[in-house]
Amino acid sequence: MEQYIMKGGNPLAGEVVISGAKNAALGILAASIMTDDDVVIENLPDVSDTNALIDAICHLGASVVRPDRHTVKINAKNIHAITVEDEDMRKMRASYYLIGALLGKYKSAEVPLPGGCTIGSRPIDQHIKGFRALGADVSIVRGAVFAHAIDLVASHIYLDVVSVGATINIMMAATMAEGETIIENVAKEPHVVDVANFLNSMGANIRGAGTDVIRIRGVRRLHGTTYSIIPDQIEAGTFMCAAAVTRGDITVKNVIPKHMEAISAKLREMGCEVVEFDEEIRVVGKPKQRHMNFKTLPYPGFPTDMQPQMTVALSLAEGTSVVTESIFENRFKYVAELSRMGANIQVEGSVAIVDGVEKLTGAQIEAPDLRAGAALVLAGLAAEGYTTIDEIGFVERGYENFEGKLRGLGANIERVDSEKEAKKFRLRVG
Ligand code: UD1
Repeated sequence: MEQYIMKGGNPLAGEVVISGAKNAALGILAASIMTDDDVVIENLPDVSDTNALIDAICHLGASVVRPDRHTVKINAKNIHAITVEDEDMRKMRASYYLIGALLGKYKSAEVPLPGGCTIGSRPIDQHIKGFRALGADVSIVRGAVFAHAIDLVASHIYLDVVSVGATINIMMAATMAEGETIIENVAKEPHVVDVANFLNSMGANIRGAGTDVIRIRGVRRLHGTTYSIIPDQIEAGTFMCAAAVTRGDITVKNVIPKHMEAISAKLREMGCEVVEFDEEIRVVGKPKQRHMNFKTLPYPGFPTDMQPQMTVALSLAEGTSVVTESIFENRFKYVAELSRMGANIQVEGSVAIVDGVEKLTGAQIEAPDLRAGAALVLAGLAAEGYTTIDEIGFVERGYENFEGKLRGLGANIERVDSEKEAKKFRLRVG
């Protein structure tokens, strides 16, 4: 029964160092198997999603050395399989990146259909459309994607929806296709740019990442590299929201402020003080914070992965806010849990109407998915009394040492796995 137990009420204050970006790491780890040389990846977040992908890469036959928690050295020279095992991958979304990586290098991939958070139907039709345009024969049989090609050839691909996953996946496969591939209407998220930079550091020829059009001139081989992953935009945003939710004063360190603009702007609109430095941002929450409206959009719009955390902040702001979720259709599941803590939120389809309340009260709740789980932790840290959160495996997929970092900011929180430990926590905290 692993769970977080916390006693709310402490404004969080201090400094927190942000880890490497999970979503960039997933693309980069997959892409690292596209060369026979050594690849060293630094600033790797130590979270269960990246560790699951590293296990899968090992099972394919690559040699993996972990000199420390945040560094991995991968050599894929001895890869002997193009089939990814089921158990490795069912639980996570980013297994699909192994399709693009294997198809690019070995022209063949067999990968179970991705699982991940149930925040929507999450089809992969755009990925498949891209692979087919590059000349691959793609079929879905018994829950797995089979992609095979004799040769991959460049193509002109227009994505019907702006998709992070499809952009990265097609970019990887096209890196080793013959000729110049053009992908239009691509995602511009920082992690798309990071994966492109990583591939370029291996000798790929990718231009335009971070704009609407990516051009890839295929190369025959990629070489080894040493690469450091960018900071995690969503982890940083979560701690910035923690300052707003708990009326605290938090400095997030090791961030790229440019990536945080949408979040900084919205926190300012609520009345928080947000000060940007070269590689850090300080957020000071205010006793009275105002309502505002926001809508999730592809980057540089407001990230869907920050929607629950910001909604928790709004649930404690003055007035009525309107939150529109335009990326995933099932991303308000946490609202039921938050309501049990006293929040006043009505959900109608893709819109949540948030009537701010004076306070939240502790409750026994469950994390419905990764980001919502983190948001509920923030709610518990602001709430009166004790909160316990079950299903924290979701949170651990994407946040490294979440409870430790929160404790460093003064939170009363612990990860426990028995009723006895929970009792001990209550006795200690009082
Ligand atoms: C990635 C992130 C996830 C984030 C999301 C949006 C990773 C591992 N996950 O997920 O944390 O919430 O971007 O920023 O990086 N779609 C299709 N067909 C496709 C692909 C996507 O219709 O082939 C739709 C999706 O259902 C969704 C939208 O496009 O409505 C965006 O999805 P996408 O950007 O692909 O999300 P993921 O890559 O799955």
